[in-house]
Amino acid sequence: MTVAKRTFDVVVVGAGGAGMRAALALSEAGLKVAVLSKVFPTRSHTVAAQGGIAASLGNVTEDNWHWHMYDTVKGSDYLGDQDAIEFMCRAAPEVVYELEHYGMPFDRLDSGKIYQRPFGGHMQDYGRNPVQRACAAADRTGHALLHTLYQQNVKANTHFFVEWMALDLIRDQDGDVLGVVAMEIETSEVMIFQARATLFATGGAGRIFQASTNAYINTGDGLGMAARAGIPLQDMEFFQFHPTGVYGAGVLISEGVRGEGGYLVNSEGERFMLRYAPTAQDLASRDVVSRAIATEIKEGRGCGPHADHVLLKVDHIGEEVIRQRLPGIRDIAIKFAHVDPVNAPIPVVPTAHYMMGGIPANYHGQVVAPYQTGPEEIVQGFYAVGECACVSVHGANRLGCNSLLDLLVFGREAARQIIEDLERNPHHKPLPADAAERPLARLARLDGQQDGESVGEVGAAMRQAMQTHCGVFRFPELLAEGVVKISAVAERAKNTAIRDRSKVFNTARIEALELDNLIEVAQATMHAAAAREESRGAHARDDFPQRDDSNWLKHSLYFSAGQHLDYKPVRLKPLTVESFPLKMRVY
Ligand code: FUM
Repeated sequence: MTVAKRTFDVVVVGAGGAGMRAALALSEAGLKVAVLSKVFPTRSHTVAAQGGIAASLGNVTEDNWHWHMYDTVKGSDYLGDQDAIEFMCRAAPEVVYELEHYGMPFDRLDSGKIYQRPFGGHMQDYGRNPVQRACAAADRTGHALLHTLYQQNVKANTHFFVEWMALDLIRDQDGDVLGVVAMEIETSEVMIFQARATLFATGGAGRIFQASTNAYINTGDGLGMAARAGIPLQDMEFFQFHPTGVYGAGVLISEGVRGEGGYLVNSEGERFMLRYAPTAQDLASRDVVSRAIATEIKEGRGCGPHADHVLLKVDHIGEEVIRQRLPGIRDIAIKFAHVDPVNAPIPVVPTAHYMMGGIPANYHGQVVAPYQTGPEEIVQGFYAVGECACVSVHGANRLGCNSLLDLLVFGREAARQIIEDLERNPHHKPLPADAAERPLARLARLDGQQDGESVGEVGAAMRQAMQTHCGVFRFPELLAEGVVKISAVAERAKNTAIRDRSKVFNTARIEALELDNLIEVAQATMHAAAAREESRGAHARDDFPQRDDSNWLKHSLYFSAGQHLDYKPVRLKPLTVESFPLKMRVY
């Protein structure tokens, strides 16, 4: 079968904040840029980000980038690479002001400066007092950011391919990446997108879990494609559970609520975070707060008839603050929890939210991985930014508001690196003859199979296995069983059939293709979690409750082929300042 081809300087997969920030810089530099997105760009999952962008502007309280760096290193439980963290925290004020100049409608102080609110784990003076560092547009910061970047991209002539799904990477015999094969969702037309640089900004994979704050589109597509192309996935055992998902619905209730003065209570009406984190209290880092909630529930102090959630109390902050700073939260609470936070607490529970792991990349956005059995090196032509990448600035636990920062800083930096690299490589390499073979074979299997299992049932089994066996606390027997279960689910996924071909817009075929990607992520997460015999950040082992720096201060690399794990050192040396020495974390 001949497959049509289009040629660009750069193909960006994903139109969330990272992809759009990069595309903007690339288009402004005069490059011919294609952005592929499964949904209309402003519906990408960045739109759901609520609380803010972390940057040490110091508009409300004194602040500086070195305190921000310290908080991020500490928040990461020392697994973050300190060179990349320095790079990100130093660049933060600049990328926020750039965004302001692009037209981002930030909330304002009376002075006219950008409003900033407190957020979990962000402190003054190396952990002493909470700081106001999150630059916010009410509780719809991601929405404002995405619309700003989309409008600027339209102005810069970025070529958007809306409702196109990338299926697989194209790599040649040297391991270089030469583009992607993609499919238009409505028509099933398959096309080769040849590019001198391919940038993945495909977002997260929260949909491996049953209860998630993530959109249905967050199916780990970039990770699936990378894994199938022989690239390992880094630090996949570290999956963040946000402390406050709406009980029963999973929808995010921003940490910004606690930043504005909200707090958590158990069934006894006790403000229990005071016991777990005497200084930061409800604004401790997310792993700490999620574990505290899970412990309250486990020890019988959960709320409701099943004692299986806690309450987020907001009514005391007043209707005016809620109306001005948290209008979206009020809507969400009314619609999904059937309570108005102006006069009743919101029932919440920790909910899968963010993947700290991802495609291994350096702080220039270049993917760094071994080719076949060789040593680790830069994969020519391939870049990854945002949640799908592991740079690693978040290490074992991300701080709130560092994700919008991450996508702005590394989206911009990857674009700068691509522009430099393309000046050295002005010509396209020839495509391999079998460029589209793997995705066409995947499609042929799906289309040819009439009597396999339903995609929905296999997906449900995967989500159930992840939720039960790989949650906030991890138990040895559950992990061992989880590895077996997830392998069995992966076998079943090879035998799925598209049952309902009448579904509009090709939904059934897309769900089947997404399942291939989800399964790669789920297997990597379960295997890496079972292997790491310590507790660090979001990875809390019941049988190994302590952090073990002697044996486990290292990044994991999961190789899909052969399902084996390897490890590499954490980069403890920053770019220009002294390393922050390892310490026990106390909030
Ligand atoms: O709680 C929140 O608003 C989420 C922010 C984040 O994940 O960074």
